[in-house]
Amino acid sequence: MTTNRPTAEQSRPPAAGTPLLEIKNLSVDFRLETSVVHAVRGVSFDVRAGETLAVVGESGSGKSATALSVLRLNPSPPCMYTGGEIRFEGRDLLKLSEKELGRIRGRDIAMVFQDPMTCLDPLQRVGAQVAEVLRHHTGMSRAAAKEAALAALDEVGIPDPALRYRQYPHELSGGLRQRVMIATALVARPRVLIADEPTTALDVTVQRQILDLLVTLQRKHDMAVVLITHDLAVVAETADRVVVMNQGRVVETGDVLDVFDRPADDYTRKLLAATPRLEAA
Ligand SMILES: Nc1ncnc2c1ncn2[C@@H]1O[C@H](COP(=O)(O)OP(=O)(O)O)[C@@H](O)[C@H]1O
Ligand SMILES: [Mg+2]
Repeated sequence: MTTNRPTAEQSRPPAAGTPLLEIKNLSVDFRLETSVVHAVRGVSFDVRAGETLAVVGESGSGKSATALSVLRLNPSPPCMYTGGEIRFEGRDLLKLSEKELGRIRGRDIAMVFQDPMTCLDPLQRVGAQVAEVLRHHTGMSRAAAKEAALAALDEVGIPDPALRYRQYPHELSGGLRQRVMIATALVARPRVLIADEPTTALDVTVQRQILDLLVTLQRKHDMAVVLITHDLAVVAETADRVVVMNQGRVVETGDVLDVFDRPADDYTRKLLAATPRLEAA
């Protein structure tokens, strides 16, 4: 398989330094009334500043449960974190108090989801929602937060930010709503962005624009990005490394081009074979 993007060596130097976020041997159960789902079974991976790490795998393989664990956003109950560590700047996020974690959420580590409406308040103007993140994390004045929010809307490619600032989420297209969610996630300049299927609900052309935007912002701000997707073509074009998950476990991990050229695991081979755009390339 070949991809038509430049190789990792050409596009950027290898991600240097130590991991920014490290998931070590994470296990997550969902304890339901009559059964237990072992959604995540000893998952380990890390991501460094300036790096995009893709997490791929079929629906139900534990990608979202893993991602949500980082900020302890799985609904609990039924979720139980049964083992492992999630290290960020020397601390285990699974051990922090809600209050300590609240300072990290959205400021150091931010998330975007498939459906912007899961994080946008339908009753609040979009600009105010972006500004609120700053007010919450920095105690910035109202006027300064508004100015920074307008700049954030502009940065994510929203035309006429002053007009959009005053609108409600339902007045925006799906693509613009996704840009607002990205602005909300990035306005406090997090060092880690976790994007869980951020383009799955969008039209193909809009998907491409949003991915290009994420790549641009990731490079501009030297963020670590964890990109969860089931779209291997997207991974080939955007990620440095890839983690392949199946049934709650990591079955393979490595440099994207290596893994896609020479998959070591049967499951990875099956996933690749099921992606016609890659097969044909
Ligand atoms: N809130 C929940 N309650 C019960 N089971 C859940 C919950 N969230 C996820 N699961 C289960 O955990 C497993 C992994 O799900 P998930 O992490 O959402 O997969 P993916 O994101 O890879 O599609 C699945 O079996 C799913 O049904
Ligand atoms: Mg998911």
